[in-house]
Amino acid sequence: MLIKLSRSSDCNASEITPEDLYLSRRALLGGTLAGLALGAVPRLGAAGEVSRYADAVPGAAPAWFNDKLAATRWQAVTAPGEAITPFKDATHYNNFYEFGPDKGDPAANAGSLKTEPWSVVVDGEVAKPGRYALEDFVKPYQLEERIYRLRCVEAWSMVIPWLGFPLAQVLKQVEPTSKARYVRFETLQDPKSMPGQRSGFALIDWPYVEGLRLDEAMNPLAILAVGMYGRELANQNGAPLRLVVPWKYGFKSIKSIVRISLVAEQPRTTWQGLAPDEYGFYANVNPTVDHPRWTQARERRLPSGLFSPNVRDTQMFNGYADEVASLYSGLDLRKNY
Ligand code: MTE
Repeated sequence: MLIKLSRSSDCNASEITPEDLYLSRRALLGGTLAGLALGAVPRLGAAGEVSRYADAVPGAAPAWFNDKLAATRWQAVTAPGEAITPFKDATHYNNFYEFGPDKGDPAANAGSLKTEPWSVVVDGEVAKPGRYALEDFVKPYQLEERIYRLRCVEAWSMVIPWLGFPLAQVLKQVEPTSKARYVRFETLQDPKSMPGQRSGFALIDWPYVEGLRLDEAMNPLAILAVGMYGRELANQNGAPLRLVVPWKYGFKSIKSIVRISLVAEQPRTTWQGLAPDEYGFYANVNPTVDHPRWTQARERRLPSGLFSPNVRDTQMFNGYADEVASLYSGLDLRKNY
């Protein structure tokens, strides 16, 4: 982002997906539902779901997560024709400035994040505000696997199998009032466990804040994720609860959420506050509107290296135009970037 551009040498050749793993992933994807069809999918055994992703390192999930996993709707949304990014890349090439500015810092430092117990506050313009223990917060919702493209504003991308539930379900449950027009999200602020928040060099005014318009937040593609690759979220990916908004640049997908507020005014978001000429509130993936310092027409799909850069064209709304373009009819996307 503002701080550092990634180098193509950040990934080495040994991280490129082995062919047999790639083919087994293709086979997995080949039998999936097209596009966004949410329907009957094979119900697999609960035990060892992580084995669906041969390269995923098992985590140490809390009991509530394992209980929910049994009823997961697998492959509820797929990315036909896309190879899933190796687990190693998804968990070792991260942006999570609370743990440092370099891509390897979150994996190296996020072990200090204590994700249990965890509570989430829902407040603001809602009929039913509350503070919930995470296990109570997620209890009403069935987990779904959503295989989404993730496009960072820095022009790299991945394909990640998330486990989560629609944000719309949570919002309906808390009953927004007629004044609610935006949803504001806040990450944990805990300098003791987050070295980036202790650093005198960090430009960010903590906590990290993101926001969506209420109708964007209600779109079925927007989810709150608690897992990835058949296991719980790795700390560096935003455990234990993060937002995933696949048609927007990755910085909108805020990690380690502790507060969700329904508000009347557009919230001031972290990157918008830091560099408003470079990072807008909407941040929709848009190959026709360049970042002031680089093109957004193309992206580097990880893993990518010097000899196989794996560059491809960026798609409008990251390939989700059919589902979300109508949210922006009449809006000038050059001004509202
Ligand atoms: N959330 C918080 N709290 N802090 C961050 O620094 N980085 C964002 C987003 N969410 C960030 C965050 C950016 S810039 C990106 S691209 C994605 O997380 C990266 O998600 P990943 O590391 O799981 O790929």
